[in-house]
Amino acid sequence: MKKTPLKIGVLVSGSGSNLQAIIDAVRRHKVKAEISIVISNKADAYALTRAGKYKIPTLYIDPKNYPDREAYTRTLTDELKQRGVGLVCLAGFMSILTPYFVKNFPLQAMNIHPALLPSFGGTGMYGHHVHEAVLRSGAKYSGCTVHFVDEGCDTGPIIVQEVVPVKDDDTADSLAKRILKIEHKLYPLAIKYFADGKLHIVGKRVWLNNK
Ligand code: GAR
Repeated sequence: MKKTPLKIGVLVSGSGSNLQAIIDAVRRHKVKAEISIVISNKADAYALTRAGKYKIPTLYIDPKNYPDREAYTRTLTDELKQRGVGLVCLAGFMSILTPYFVKNFPLQAMNIHPALLPSFGGTGMYGHHVHEAVLRSGAKYSGCTVHFVDEGCDTGPIIVQEVVPVKDDDTADSLAKRILKIEHKLYPLAIKYFADGKLHIVGKRVWLNNK
């Protein structure tokens, strides 16, 4: 019997360059999965246009139509569940979901963060704020992290990381650009490991099972 491929749901808010990297990896069969839905909390997210180009179903769920974060989270989670999504990828999704989401997707949701967690993560640490904080700190290295989503903010088990050196003349823009390039390689890799059943999770530690 043919195994049905893993169904991925991608959550976005902005440009969606990471979404593009995931689309490319799926189309080139580097990742054995299909993207079932792309959901945005922003109407004008360019990520929605990217998905549309490949006829991937999209959904804009406007937070303003919900009384609170919990109601919003429930609607979004139920949309993913209804489509049989087995992995949710947060790709530049700039909204915080409640524990209802994590309870429905335990170790089945990933996020990409543009720094080396557990440093430079947590509330308020997104996009350029992260790179500005790295530059302010004087750190010589930054990078990116793909981690499972748990009930905290940027605190879930780390799947893969890659280091990017900070240059003396870096601005938040130049650092963001160099890190983003690495993100596009790292996120599809983490998804591939998941889709191939290669991730072994013990507490906060994620091991790659290459046997
Ligand atoms: C990426 O750099 C991603 O790591 C970051 O937002 C950018 C989205 O770019 N995410 C966070 O800061 C989450 N805390 P994209 O829309 O082009 O993929």
